[in-house]
Amino acid sequence: MSLRGAAILGVGSYLPEHVLTNADLEQMVDTTDEWIVSHTGIRERRVMTDDQATSDLAYEAATRAIKDAGLSHEEIDFIIVSTFTGDYLLPATANLLQARLGCGEASGFDLLSGCTGFVLGLVTGSSLVQSGIFDHVLVVAAESLTRVTNWDDRSTCVLFGDGAGAVVLGPTKEGHGFLGAETIGQGEWAHLLMIPAGGSRKPLDEEALRAHEDKLSMAGHDVYKLSVRGVPLVCERTIAKAGLTAHEVEWVIMHQANKRIMDAAAKRFGWSPDHVPVTIDKYGNISAASMPVTLDDVYRQGKILPGEHVLFIGFGAGFALGGALFEWTKPAPAQCDGHAL
Ligand code: ACO
Repeated sequence: MSLRGAAILGVGSYLPEHVLTNADLEQMVDTTDEWIVSHTGIRERRVMTDDQATSDLAYEAATRAIKDAGLSHEEIDFIIVSTFTGDYLLPATANLLQARLGCGEASGFDLLSGCTGFVLGLVTGSSLVQSGIFDHVLVVAAESLTRVTNWDDRSTCVLFGDGAGAVVLGPTKEGHGFLGAETIGQGEWAHLLMIPAGGSRKPLDEEALRAHEDKLSMAGHDVYKLSVRGVPLVCERTIAKAGLTAHEVEWVIMHQANKRIMDAAAKRFGWSPDHVPVTIDKYGNISAASMPVTLDDVYRQGKILPGEHVLFIGFGAGFALGGALFEWTKPAPAQCDGHAL
């Protein structure tokens, strides 16, 4: 099997229409717009409708990414969906997506790694393309976080939103596209960010439901400390593995958990804040989906140019950190007009 390059051929995203503002949250829990903005950078987030599920969000983002890649749905060979809020515990949302998209007999799986999932999807998908096993791999990150939000807990309910982003990976010249990756697992901190009930350790019962253990719980300050410590490390190691220096990285697409974490990384590595794009202000934390949504936001504005280096950095539940570095090979989209395709 000969190695070839793997590049991002298409990008797409989808955000539900309904906007939940900080002012709306002030009516729901004991919080203020001032606290939310100063502690997180979030001003508003999107909320899916009652009849939408994760595969519906994923479908919209995937359709846009496949169109952007100039491919037909039948040309997708494999599907990876990064999510922890899939439509069902079984089957995988990737299988539902394949049928709905009409991607021939493409197989796939759901990838569960919280906010780092999109990076792991990029690494896995790129390896499948580089090895020649598949030509076109669809990597989607889609989350229905408002479905697992405890709306009585002000320390978490102000943070999360719903949305999906997707890329299509395909072959390119050897040595181009995907340049390197790093992952760091710190499972000893798994208890800091979890949905305690509904799995085999603690099946869902009335007591668990009463205690909101079917919802996401997070020791925010401890997770913040792990993130602040881990992000520079995974940035450094990913850049080194790709054989580059921080000054050669033009774009840093980082998980949107807290604007302060992004600002600190930009300062540490000397990156202009304009090149560490922020979407948390308008979409909140959408877990793994925040990276492809942010990528699409910048790409649609025609800002990323062929030959530039794009560093993806994820961190979150697990505790897990991951980085992937790509050389951008796509021209700017014909119409640089936001999310409208
Ligand atoms: N409104 C007003 N006050 C609040 C709110 C709120 N919404 N939430 C908490 N507070 C209060 C607390 O009760 C506490 O009050 P006290 O001092 O009287 O006890 C005070 O604010 C400070 O609370 P902290 O939790 O220490 O606040 P912190 O400055 O750490 O900010 C935050 C909280 C925003 C959650 C931060 O810790 C954070 O960003 N954590 C990291 C999140 C992250 O990286 N997640 C990873 C990925 S997420 C995923 O995987 C799904």
